[in-house]
Amino acid sequence: MLVSVVVGALWVTLPAYLPNNAAVLAGGGRPIDGGRTLGGRRLLGDGKTWRGTAVGTAVGTLAAPVLNLLATPVGATVGVTIPTIQVPAAALGLALGAMVGDVAASFVKRRLDRARGAAVPGLDQLDFVVGALVFAALAAPAWFTSVFTLPRLVVVVVATPVLHVTTNVIAYRLGLKDEPW
Ligand code: CTP
Ligand code: MG
Repeated sequence: MLVSVVVGALWVTLPAYLPNNAAVLAGGGRPIDGGRTLGGRRLLGDGKTWRGTAVGTAVGTLAAPVLNLLATPVGATVGVTIPTIQVPAAALGLALGAMVGDVAASFVKRRLDRARGAAVPGLDQLDFVVGALVFAALAAPAWFTSVFTLPRLVVVVVATPVLHVTTNVIAYRLGLKDEPW
C-alpha cells in the first residue's frame, strides 16, 4: 500500500524532476533576463538560460510517453499499479511548471540580494515541484485530481526535498554542478 503510493507519486512527478537536471547539463548561452536588472540587481541572473529552460521543458514533456510505456511492465514487476500521464497537457504542465517555478525562485532570490548559486533552503527544494503541480492542475484539471490524491501529494512534498538534495550532491561530486544544492 505505502509502496504503491510512493512509487505512483514519484513516477507521475518524474516529468517535473527531470527538467532541472536536464537544464544543468544543457545550460549556457543567453540568460533569459538578457542581463537586465531591477533595482540594481539582476532580474533572474546568469543561471537561468533560454537553452536550459527549453531543453529542460522538452525532456520533462517527452519523458511522459516513455513513462507511460514502462508503467505497466514496471508496475507488474514491483507489484503495484502505476498511473499514466496520458494527457499531453499534463506532461507539458509538469515540465514547464517545474522550469517556471525554478525561474520564479531565482527572481525571488535576486530580490533578496542572494547571488547566483546561493542556497535558500526550502525555496531551492520546493520551487519547481510547486510550479509543476500548479501548472499541471491548471493545464489538465481532471487528470490532476484523479492522479494527485492527497496521499500522493503528501509523498511528493515530503520526498522531493530529499531527492533534490541527493541528486544535487551527486551532480556536484560528478563536477556537473557548481554547488551541492
Ligand atoms: N540552468 C539553466 N536554465 C534554467 C535552470 C538552470 O540554464 N532555467 C542551468 C544553469 O547553468 C544553472 C544550472 O543549470 O547554473 C543550475 O541551476 P540552478 O541551481 O537552478 O541555478 P543557479 O546557478 O544556482 O542560480 P540561482 O541562484 O538563480 O538558482
Ligand atoms: Mg542553484
